Amino acid sequence: MLITPQHLIQWKQQNRAIAVLTAWDYAIASILDRAGIEVILVGDSLSMVALGHETTLPLTLDEVIHHAKAVRRGVKEALLVVDLPFLTYQESWQQAMHSAGRILKETNAGAVKLEGGYPAIAETVARLVQAGIPVMGHVGLTPQSVRQTGFRQQGKSHEAGEKIVAEAIALEQAGAFAVVIEHVPADLAKTITESLTIPTIGIGAGIHCDGQVLVTSDVLGLGTWKPKFAKTYLDLNALITQAVQEFGEEVRSHKFPPET
Ligand code: KIV
Repeated sequence: MLITPQHLIQWKQQNRAIAVLTAWDYAIASILDRAGIEVILVGDSLSMVALGHETTLPLTLDEVIHHAKAVRRGVKEALLVVDLPFLTYQESWQQAMHSAGRILKETNAGAVKLEGGYPAIAETVARLVQAGIPVMGHVGLTPQSVRQTGFRQQGKSHEAGEKIVAEAIALEQAGAFAVVIEHVPADLAKTITESLTIPTIGIGAGIHCDGQVLVTSDVLGLGTWKPKFAKTYLDLNALITQAVQEFGEEVRSHKFPPET
C-alpha cells in the first residue's frame, strides 16, 4: 500500500502510532521501506550524517534532490518526505514554491518538510498547499536556526512554549498534514498534540506525540556524535570496523581470496 498524508491523519484519529526514519541513499531506503517504516524522510541532517558538515546549513537544493532521487528508487510503500534546505524557502513564498516544485518534479517525493511557524512560514505553507504540494511542518528546535539557538531544548519557559503551540496551530491552519516537534519538554509536546487534528511526530519530545522520528545513523550507531534523546539499537560502527579490519588482515596474510 502506498502511504499518503491522508493515511497519517486517519492514523492519528485511530490512535495508531507512526514510525518515521531518515534515509540518504538507495540501500538504507530499501531496508527501511521493506521493514515497514511508514514515513521515510530525506532530512537535511544528511548534511551532517552523509556529507560530513557540522550543521545542516551548507546543504544545497541540488544535493538534497540528488540524494532524494536515490532514496526514491528504494521506497515502494512509505510516504517519502524531503526537507527544504536552509535558505531555499525563507526568502519568499515564491522561492519556496520554486524549491518545493523542483523537489516534487525531480524526485517524485510525496511531500516536503520545512522549519518554522508563524507568520511568514505559515503563509508559505498555505501557498504551497494551495498549489497541491503536501507540507510537513517542523517546530521546537529547528536545526536551521542553530546559529541562534544552538542544539538546546526549546520551549522551556511558559512564554516560549506558548509561541511554539501557536506556531503548530498556524501550520495546521495553513494546511500542513503533520508537524515534527523537536527537542521540547514532553508536556509541551502533549499540549501541541492535543491541540491539533493533524499528527505530531516527535524527536526528543517525549511519549505523547502521534509518531516518532529518529535519524537513522543514530539508530544504527553509525555516527560519531548523537543527541542524548536518540536511541542506538545497533553498533554498526563497531561491526563495520571489525569486518573491514578482518578483510584487511586476510588480504595482507593472503587468506583472501581463497585459492581456486
Ligand atoms: O533533518 C532531519 O533529519 C530532521 C529530523 C531530525 C526530523 O529534520
